[in-house]
Amino acid sequence: MRWLSSSVTREIRPIISNSDSPREHLGGGRLSGRVDIDVIGIGAGSPSHITLEAIGVLRDVDVVFALDKGGDKADLLAARQNILDTHAPHVELVAVADPPRDRTPDNYGAVVRDWHQRRAELLADAFLAHLGGEGRRRGAFLVWGDPSLYDSTLRILQRVRDLGLEVNSRVVPSVTAISALTAAHGECLNQIGKPVLITTGRRLGERPEGMDAVVMLDGGAAWLEHADPDEEILWGAFLGTDLQTLRRGRVGDVGEEIAELKAKLRAEHGWIMDIYLLRS
Ligand SMILES: C[S@@+](CC[C@H](N)C(=O)[O-])C[C@H]1O[C@@H](n2cnc3c(N)ncnc32)[C@H](O)[C@@H]1O
Repeated sequence: MRWLSSSVTREIRPIISNSDSPREHLGGGRLSGRVDIDVIGIGAGSPSHITLEAIGVLRDVDVVFALDKGGDKADLLAARQNILDTHAPHVELVAVADPPRDRTPDNYGAVVRDWHQRRAELLADAFLAHLGGEGRRRGAFLVWGDPSLYDSTLRILQRVRDLGLEVNSRVVPSVTAISALTAAHGECLNQIGKPVLITTGRRLGERPEGMDAVVMLDGGAAWLEHADPDEEILWGAFLGTDLQTLRRGRVGDVGEEIAELKAKLRAEHGWIMDIYLLRS
C-alpha cells in the first residue's frame, strides 16, 4: 500500500496566516481558555504502521492540524489526508503555514527557539479559531513516526501553554524510523551489552570513539567523513513505502556507492528521507 505521492482527495481548510491572529484582536496579550489537542504517532512510512490505539483516538477528534511546509513536503500533507480518508473521514484537516526559518544560521539554537515560538503563536491562533477555546471541539496532530523522537510537536505545545492557553493532550506512541530500519534489515538495534547513540548527520562527528550510532536528519552523507571504513553501515531510504531502498556493508566498501545512490534518489524524487545504523 502506498500513501506518499498520492493526491489529496478532500479539500484542506485554508492556511491560517498571521493576519488572522485572534491575539491581535486581543491586543497581543496573554491567551486564556482550554483546548484538547492529542498527539498521535502514525508510524514512519507505511499506512499499516498506524496502531489500533491511534485509530481510536483519531476517531474521537474533530480537527487535525498540520504544519504545511509547502513545496516538496506536500506529500506529507497528502499522507495525513489519506489517513483521515481511511480511518476518520469526519475529521477536518487544517493546514497552518509553517513560518520560514534560516537554514544556515550562525546561532542554530537561538534561531530554532525563535522559529518554534513563531510556530506556537500561529498554532495557538489556529486552535482558538477552529476549536473555540472552550473545550467544545477536540484537535490533534498526526506525528510522523513516534512523537518522542526528533519531533517538536510536544515542545511546541508546551510553548502554546506558555502563551497562557491550557492544552490537554493524549500522546499515542508509534513505530519509529529506527524500528522501521532495523526491521527492514532484520537486525537488532544494539549489540549485546553495547550502547547506541542516536544523533544527526550534523553531529555525527561528536560521537565518542567506537560507539555504535543511529543517524537521522542527515542532509548529506556524513558517514563519508565521520565513519570508520571498517564499521558496518545499515542504510535505508523511504522505509515502509513502495520506494524503500536498503543497502548495507563495510563503510569502506559501500560508503561511496550509498552516497551516490542517495544523490540519485533525491534528484529522482525531489526529496529523500534516509536513516542508518553504524556499528563496529
Ligand atoms: C524529523 S525526524 C522524525 C522522526 C520520527 N518522529 C520517528 O519517530 O522516526 C525525520 C527523520 O527521520 C528519518 N525517517 C523518518 N521516516 C523515515 C523513513 N520512512 N525512511 C527513512 N528515514 C526516515 C530520517 O532520518 C528523517 O530525516
